[in-house]
Amino acid sequence: MKKTILINASPRKKWNTAHLLKAAEAGACEAGAETEYVDLYDVKGTGCRSCLACKKKDGRRCHCFWPDGFSPLIDSIFAADAVIIGTPIYFGEPTAQFRALVERLIFCSFSYDDYSSYVDKKINVGLIYTMNAPYEYYEKTYKEQFKRTEDLFRYLKGTVSIYAACNTLQVEDYSKFNMASFSETEKKEHQEFQFPKDMAAVKAMAARLSQ
Ligand SMILES: Cc1cc2nc3c(=O)[nH]c(=O)nc-3n(C[C@H](O)[C@H](O)[C@H](O)COP(=O)(O)O)c2cc1C
Repeated sequence: MKKTILINASPRKKWNTAHLLKAAEAGACEAGAETEYVDLYDVKGTGCRSCLACKKKDGRRCHCFWPDGFSPLIDSIFAADAVIIGTPIYFGEPTAQFRALVERLIFCSFSYDDYSSYVDKKINVGLIYTMNAPYEYYEKTYKEQFKRTEDLFRYLKGTVSIYAACNTLQVEDYSKFNMASFSETEKKEHQEFQFPKDMAAVKAMAARLSQ
C-alpha cells in the first residue's frame, strides 16, 4: 500500500491551509493510499544545525541525526511514497517552520561529493500555498520567486506539483480587525466561489501523486 504524508506548515490548525490539506488527504485516501497528517507547529524542531553527521563517511544516508521531533518526521517522509506540504505565505515566503523542515529534509538527501541525490526511490511532492495575494500577483511575482525552494524537492526524485490558493479569507469577521486594505465582501465572495474549486483541485492533485 502506498503512503502519503500531509504536513500543515500553518500555525492555524483549522484554517485555509488545513482545509486544503484535509481535502488532499481525502484525495490520497480515495486513491488507495495510507495517510498520515501532521500539524508541523506541534512538532518540536529547528532548521539544519549543521552538525554534518549526515555527511560523515560511511554514515547513514537520507537520515537527519539531530535529536528533535523533525528527525522522525523526516524518516517517515523518506519511507513514504508522497508528501504534500501546505504552507501560508508570510512576507513573500513559505513559513519559517516550512523552511526549517525543508533545510533538514533536503540537506540529508544529497551528496556533497557531486550534488547527486542519495534518495533511491521516487517520492512525489505536492506543495500547496495559501495567501492573501490575488492570483495575478502570484503569477506575476511569487511564482518565479518560489521556484528556488520548489527545485530543492527535485532531490526526492518524484513528480513535484504546485497549487496556489490565492485571496484567502484571513479572518471570519473583518470588522473586528484593523484590516482596511481588504474588502470582506470581496473576500467572502471569493471564499464561496473559488475556495471549493481550490479544494477540488488539491484533492485531485493528491490523488494523482498518491497513485
Ligand atoms: C505574519 C503573516 C505574514 C503574511 N504575509 C503575507 C504575504 O506576504 N503575502 C500574502 O499574500 N499573504 C500574507 N499573509 C496572509 C496569509 O498568507 C494568508 O492569510 C494564508 O491563507 C493564511 O493561511 P491559514 O489560513 O492556513 O493560516 C500573511 C499572514 C501572516 C500572519
